[in-house]
Amino acid sequence: MVLHLDFALFFPSYWTLKHKLYRRIALVILCVSLFIGLGTYHIFPAETQEFIDRVEIEYQARLGSLSAFPLSGGFSFRPKHGIGILIEEGRRKWEEKLARQSQTLDQAVAEYRRRYGLEPPNGFDKWFDFARGSDFKLIDEFDAIHLDLAPFRRLSSQELQHRTQSAALQDTTFGVKIEDGWATVTDEIRPGGVKKGDIGRAQGFLQSVQGFMSELPDMMFAISGLAEPTVYPTWEVSQPHNFSAVLEDASDYVTQSNNFPLWYKYTNTCHPADPVRRRPHEFNFPNATSILPPTNFDAISTETGNAFSNFRERTEKDLDFCKHPEKFYQFGHFYAGWSIFNETFPVFGPGKAPGSMNIRIPSYYYIVPLSKYTYGFDEILGYGQDDDPNDPDWDDKTGTMFWRGATTGGGSIPSGRYPYYVRHRLVQLAVQDNPSSQLILHRTGQRMPETWTESRIDVNTLRTTAMDVGFTMAVQCAPYEPGGCEGMMEDYKFVDAVPLHAAYKSKILLDLDGMGYSARSLALLASKSALVKSTIYAEFFDDWIQPWVHFIPLSSTFEEIFNIWAYFVGPGEVYDYSGDAALKSIADAGRRWKREHARIVDMEVYTYRLCLEWARLWYKDERDMDYSPTTANDFEGDE
Ligand SMILES: *[C@@H]1O[C@H](CO)[C@@H](O)[C@H](O)[C@H]1NC(C)=O
Ligand SMILES: *[C@@H]1O[C@H](CO)[C@@H](O)[C@H](O)[C@H]1NC(C)=O
Ligand SMILES: *[C@@H]1O[C@H](CO)[C@@H](O)[C@H](O)[C@H]1NC(C)=O
Repeated sequence: MVLHLDFALFFPSYWTLKHKLYRRIALVILCVSLFIGLGTYHIFPAETQEFIDRVEIEYQARLGSLSAFPLSGGFSFRPKHGIGILIEEGRRKWEEKLARQSQTLDQAVAEYRRRYGLEPPNGFDKWFDFARGSDFKLIDEFDAIHLDLAPFRRLSSQELQHRTQSAALQDTTFGVKIEDGWATVTDEIRPGGVKKGDIGRAQGFLQSVQGFMSELPDMMFAISGLAEPTVYPTWEVSQPHNFSAVLEDASDYVTQSNNFPLWYKYTNTCHPADPVRRRPHEFNFPNATSILPPTNFDAISTETGNAFSNFRERTEKDLDFCKHPEKFYQFGHFYAGWSIFNETFPVFGPGKAPGSMNIRIPSYYYIVPLSKYTYGFDEILGYGQDDDPNDPDWDDKTGTMFWRGATTGGGSIPSGRYPYYVRHRLVQLAVQDNPSSQLILHRTGQRMPETWTESRIDVNTLRTTAMDVGFTMAVQCAPYEPGGCEGMMEDYKFVDAVPLHAAYKSKILLDLDGMGYSARSLALLASKSALVKSTIYAEFFDDWIQPWVHFIPLSSTFEEIFNIWAYFVGPGEVYDYSGDAALKSIADAGRRWKREHARIVDMEVYTYRLCLEWARLWYKDERDMDYSPTTANDFEGDE
């Protein structure tokens, strides 16, 4: 069973088999073999059984959370591929989630109490009507809001109001005020300050409250003008007994300095006993040469168990960097030096990274259409269309994994670490000579149950066959060592800049973090291609999307990237029907998801509910802000 086949021998590539006639013949063969397969018991030689047992044990050890080890078809002991299991699990969870949503207001209130041990906020009934009226489907799924607001429940309303007003005066933050049911953006600034962020982010928020602002009481939001998270309170100040301290002016807690990388500020959010804080200097800046080259695959994925099961259930947004000091090197994110709050200020922003305390809102790029982030963007109409004429049908797409982008990837403090940033590592993997090889698991037949073979394949063969990846623009490259921007251009492949829709020619679209979260994801999901996404950022829609159903999560080391490709595309000796069908169903599900769950109105439903929760915190010591059927939506209060 463990064959070491010469990759080149059986790689006529499925593109040559794209021809319809071939496909029909292959389909007939598939049906016949399926028929034979179902009628026959598979008899394995002893070593095959050993292999299966070994994989099963390894597999169960890795995915202990998945209850039973599934057998395919009930008559074969052949282990299922890890991806097959993740897809099945994902589908089950998604079906369950859709099916269990509250249908009536009473059910939604009961579910709210069950989840959070609280009454819903005042105005909940109007919100419910707004959501139902918009055909919003996931009526109970707002854990993200509760997670983000939980720490701020400890503040008195007076302190919450003070911190908001003070935070909004800082350089990278804008205020959005609701007064008499009308929302406005303010760019007031502290004495001597200079606004640096993008006011468009506050304007996007303003736009998303238009549909319900008349229902809201007077209050204010501090909206970050940056894409990146800006609130990293130290572990000490975020402890419950310290949290509610009366803070002075927010300026006293903003680090303006660009001399320290975010990593320093991040590590202070960790428990004092965590490795990153216990031994900061040992970990912070060791010699770069002592770090394993980022794309040396010899060290990983060499065991069969890995090829079968080394896949991520979800993105790395929950990764605990406090326990993984070495991760510092893998994310440009940590080398940035933007201004941050080191105290617990309530600031709203689009992407939330581990350790940050920002409150998530939909990115304004999702609300304000732009050609670089919007699917089907029509230059004349100025907004996105459901169909993009540049998005080919499935059968006309290639089987390569596509990525284009700029060299953004973090900051440069200290400089000289670019090769380890996420985007740089992907491009390096795609374009640089690589002497290592990888064990690749691939289908050897189209029979059911699926049969698998592993082959050791040169990374050079894999990367040139499977990847269509390149930088289009060098930015923030001056500190690159050696040679600054020119040096970087020499070391990495730079290709012509392309519009967003150029990606759609591929079936697999890779998506990576830049300085912050990637604003492209929703457009890529809307396309007829499948999204493969690696990120450490949480976004507002995380409770609404199902990994392995709507998109494929990818690790930030990319160690499993070629096995993902092999599962869905090749390298098989025949056109891979099952893999291609599985990939297409993820592409289709992602496209449908964007249309059904990530419309602008879905984002408004999110923001509306967040506003009600925020209003309750804003007034909690002044009036009763809980929902009850009799005081429904009465914001007049008794002041
Ligand atoms: C917060 O709490 C810790 C102990 O949990 C204490 O050492 C510290 O002084 C407190 N105050 C601040 C401002 O961190
Ligand atoms: C928080 O930031 C302020 C302003 O830069 C600084 O004076 C203070 O030392 C910082 N506190 C911590 C715990 O890093
Ligand atoms: C780092 O480099 C210096 C100079 O090359 C060397 O003396 C030192 O031992 C190195 N430290 C580590 C941890 O490798």
